[in-house]
Amino acid sequence: MKVSIINGPNLSRLDIRDSSIYGDLDYAELVSFVQAAATTHGFAAHIRQSDSESEIISWLHEAADESVPVIINPAAFTHYSYAIRDAAELVKAPLIEVHLSNPLSREEFRHTSVISGVANGTIAGFGPNSYVLALIALKALIESTT
Ligand code: DQA
Repeated sequence: MKVSIINGPNLSRLDIRDSSIYGDLDYAELVSFVQAAATTHGFAAHIRQSDSESEIISWLHEAADESVPVIINPAAFTHYSYAIRDAAELVKAPLIEVHLSNPLSREEFRHTSVISGVANGTIAGFGPNSYVLALIALKALIESTT
């Protein structure tokens, strides 16, 4: 089972972001952790990060064209990118939104997700385990529909 795992802006700089919010793993460690969890749960994961809205949109188009499920942490784009939302809507395989932190417990501008409405579900607030929970949920979704 393939899964495209897409990480948005500034997640590559977890090493210098607030560790009380985002935890202690740097981006390379997060990728290793998620890659290992994906393997454990039977997925071949393609994990990518971009600060560019356009690149993230092209990866969503690719997932739509190839019918690959998606786990996406859109980072700050979560809160305002209608372009990413429209691209996410094109993905007909399951798509799960994840966040390391719980945006609802943070500043008000983070309380809106323009992505959630086109995701199968959202998992937030569990640090790197948000991705693991998303992989488990994705596997269950795929198994229930095949
Ligand atoms: C985030 C939450 C967003 O509000 C923030 O802009 C991020 C990371 C998270 O994983 O907790 O960059 O998506």
